[in-house]
Order: sequence, then C-alpha cells, then structure tokens
Amino acid sequence: MTALIERLNDRDLFKTHSFINGQWVDGDTAFAVTSPGDRSHLADVYDVGASGARQAIDAAEKAFQHWKKTSVFERARIVQRWHDLIVAHADDLGTLITAEMGKPFGEAKGEVVYGAGFVSWSAEEAKRLYGETISTPFPGTRGWTVHQPVGVVACITPWNFPSAMITRKCGPALAAGCSVVVKPAPETPLSALALAELAKRAGFPDGVFNVICGDAAAIGGEMTGSDAVRMVGFTGSTAVGKLLMRQAADGVKRVSLELGGNAPFIVMDDADLDAAADGVIASKFRAAGQTCVSANRIIAQAGIADALIERIAARMEKLKVGSGFEGGVQVGPLIHDEAVARVDTLVQDAKGKGAKVLVGGSPLADELGGSFYAPTLIESGEDFGLDIANSEIFGPVASVYRADSEDEIIRLANDTPYGLAAYVYTRDVGRVHRLSEGLDFGMVGVNAPMVGSPATPFGGVKESGIGREGGKWGVEEFTELKFVLLGGVNA
Ligand code: SIN
Repeated sequence: MTALIERLNDRDLFKTHSFINGQWVDGDTAFAVTSPGDRSHLADVYDVGASGARQAIDAAEKAFQHWKKTSVFERARIVQRWHDLIVAHADDLGTLITAEMGKPFGEAKGEVVYGAGFVSWSAEEAKRLYGETISTPFPGTRGWTVHQPVGVVACITPWNFPSAMITRKCGPALAAGCSVVVKPAPETPLSALALAELAKRAGFPDGVFNVICGDAAAIGGEMTGSDAVRMVGFTGSTAVGKLLMRQAADGVKRVSLELGGNAPFIVMDDADLDAAADGVIASKFRAAGQTCVSANRIIAQAGIADALIERIAARMEKLKVGSGFEGGVQVGPLIHDEAVARVDTLVQDAKGKGAKVLVGGSPLADELGGSFYAPTLIESGEDFGLDIANSEIFGPVASVYRADSEDEIIRLANDTPYGLAAYVYTRDVGRVHRLSEGLDFGMVGVNAPMVGSPATPFGGVKESGIGREGGKWGVEEFTELKFVLLGGVNA
C-alpha cells in the first residue's frame, strides 16, 4: 500500500513517539505495526517501557494538582476543542484505523465520530456533576456531598475500536478533572498517537493527557503498581481484566472494566424476521465480528428458525469481503493470522460435532492476501455445548441455535459466565418486559442491534465487567463522592 503517511491530509498526525508531559518521547527499542488487510509494514513505534510509564505517571500526578482546580467550564472548553479537532480530522483518523485495524473506511470514520460523541457529551455533562445537601441527625450541623475527580487514571485500550475506546474513557475522565495515561494496544498505536497530537492542539496543559506505547506487562505493571494511579480503566479480554483487577487490589484502586461477551441474539416466533435478519448482519459483521457486543449465539424459536436462517443466508451471500480501503467492502480482515486460525478452529470443531456449515466456513487469506475469514453461517441445532457457543467467537461467524419455550430460551441465554449485551426480537409487549428483565446482561437491545451511544450506559455484569461508560454514569465513574459535615452552625 502507499506509505500510510502519504494517505493523510495532515501528515503531522502520523507519530511513532509516545506523548509524555507534552513532549514526543522515543524509546530504546521499537515494535512493528502491520496492516491486517495486506500485511504491509506501516510503522515502527517506539517502546517506552516501564521507565516511560513512570515518567508519564509522574507528569500526570503533577498535572492533576492544577487540572482538578481548573474551572469545569475551562476544562470543558478544552475537551470540546479536542472533540471538534477529532471530528475535523475524521478522514485521517479513519484512514489510520483502517490501515492498522482493518475495518472498512466508512465504518472506521463512523467509529471516529461515534467516539468523539463521548468527548462532547462529557464536556457538557461534567458541568452537571451536582452534589446534594443532606439533613443530618446531629443538632447544629449541615451535610452535603461533592463529586471530586478520582486522580490519575490509567486507560488500557483495545485494538478493535482504536479510537472510540480511548475517547469513551478519556473524554469523561478529563472533563471530570482527572489526568490520564493511555496505553493503546500494540496493534493500533497510530490512532492513539494521532489523538494525542489533537489533544496537544486542543490545549490540554502538559501532563494532563499522555499516551505511552510498548510492552503491555511492563507498562501495565507500572500502572497498577503506582500509588499515584487511582483508577484503571480497561477494555479487553476477561482474562486480562481479572489480572488487572488482582493487581489493582493491592492499592485498592478503582477499576472500570469492559470485558468479554457472549451475546445471545434471540428471535421469537412473533418477530419481524426481516428486521431480525438485518439486525443479525449489523451486529455480527460490524468490525468483522470483532466486538464485545457482537451476536455470538443466535437463538431462534423453533417455529421460525428455518425462515430466519434463510433470510440471514441470503443477506450473507451478498456481503463484500476485502481491504477496508476498497469501495463497497462490508467485511474487512481479522486483526491477524492467529485470529483467523482461532476462528477456524471453532468452526471446524462445530462441523466435526455435527453442526451444518451453510455459508463460508474457511479462511480467505490466500485469495485476498490478508487475515481474512469468509463470512460463515452455521446451523448448530440444539447443541449449546459446542465450543463455539461457549467462546467469544470474535470473527465473522454467525451460529444459529433452536430452542422452544420462552423460559428455556432465557435459561440458555443466561447459561454463560458473561453478561455484556443481549438482543431480543419480538413484537409482543409482555415478552419485551419478561425477556429484558430475565436476561442477566448489562444491556439489552430489543428490536435493536446496537446498544452503545454517548448518552447511555455501556457495560456488563458477571465476568463481562464492572462500571459503566457513557451518559452521566460514565462521567460519575471518574469521580469520588465526598461527604462534608459542618458542625457548630447554631453556636
Ligand atoms: C466493544 O466492542 O468493546 C465496543 C462496542 C461498542 O461501543 O458498541
């Protein structure tokens, strides 16, 4: 591919140094960033390691002392400027996402705007962090609460949304008065560093916003081990989330964890089947199935299962797979070849155990020259014991199951350690309530395949995480509630 920097309108957004205390900092070693779409080499990015993490945390700790005292109106102005710059550079930020992560350019640009929405929302919402006055039981006293910023926040972000998972954490943290140190995934550092360049232009004081790249264990260890870091925000796998939670426990740090999912996509026999099939495509093939909220188990009520499968298959046959830079492509590559191999193992295991592969069913790496997997439709019957039903697929594979009664469907849907998103298609208002209340998930989309927005709470229960991002809850997450008791009022 043409050198990535030459594809950008603003070449200053292409950075390979970490951003610490307002400066671009190199490291002793570097790691390669490769495009999953064509395996081309995009950049060598410096690894600043544990010492870079310490420098960034020290800078953030110092910066926090004045940032927390800066008026929320002034903070909001800078945060809003960051939003405006992100939106103004959405083409370039989208190009970086497509190059390093692979998703189609239109979707990548959509991610940039979606992610920027959290920044703008937070700039406004932080002004509304109201405290309360409280009637106290003690004579001559008054009580009240205030929201204060948590302190230095370490954000560890994934490759599947290289831009939005940073802005969804940092927008509210910064607006609430926290300083942040971001460690992006090694697969997608370029998007994060471009956001740092825009944060610099927006006018954040030095040290308030830092982005450090490099070895996950070394940097993560510094982040969770430092007394200065008061909160760790993470989006990624449940296994890493558990590790971070254990590490953060020693310092009793606050954690906000958005972890893995195993979303049931339930279609009841009274549903609009065309809308349900469209919903499956939207949920399943966004980011080639590499989202935590992707439909993982499509559970069809037995009476409509065949009609639903037919509709999904017809839509899948038309999906265009290819490089995210090619016009009309709807499904890009997976993040790397190991991801392709993992997805294929799940598909072959299901096939070997009797599931029927109706569409696709194999890698497309040789044909397309990158980490591609064919959009795949599997009919898994009533076998909810398959590995593919119990693992997060994270790939373009739709697996359909059949079940009968409403109670059984709720039981099967909840039979997972995960609890992030669930989807239900039905036109029966009683079912809407029974299913949305009965499903043990943090978010339920009813006749809706997408649940995230800047105004609403995003997060899971059980092993899918702790805490909420988005809306007023996403801003409160970065604050401590302080109670003040004033005595001697009647003296
Ligand atoms: C995720 O998969 O982690 C985020 C998806 C979203 O924000 O919709």
